[in-house]
Amino acid sequence: MAFRFLCEQNSLAVGEKKAFNVDGEKVLLIHLEDGFYATGAKCPHMSMPLEKGKLIDGQRIQCKFHHAEFDIKTGKACQWACFPPGIQLLNVIRGQKDLPTYALKIDDGRIYVEL
Ligand code: FES
Repeated sequence: MAFRFLCEQNSLAVGEKKAFNVDGEKVLLIHLEDGFYATGAKCPHMSMPLEKGKLIDGQRIQCKFHHAEFDIKTGKACQWACFPPGIQLLNVIRGQKDLPTYALKIDDGRIYVEL
């Protein structure tokens, strides 16, 4: 495990998110009111990009494809795929999974992720 550079701290405003490819690992950096957080950038349901997801209540991200929701700080799945109606039938073979989260450090205005 080592810290890898992601971006300058001032390049992402509060409420914004951006995906990075770091040594083959897809990481989503999210700027919340209380700081920066990093999660996996692919939804654990069907590997679709979470960068297109919606931030909810300043603490969760909702995948735009089938509306699974994850706690940004813990990665815990708060709601599994539920859209469009009927997709729950697939949940038997695509069971609920949490989102990976990654440690960050900020040094001299630069953000690093631990991978
Ligand atoms: S790919 Fe995200 S909920 Fe299905």
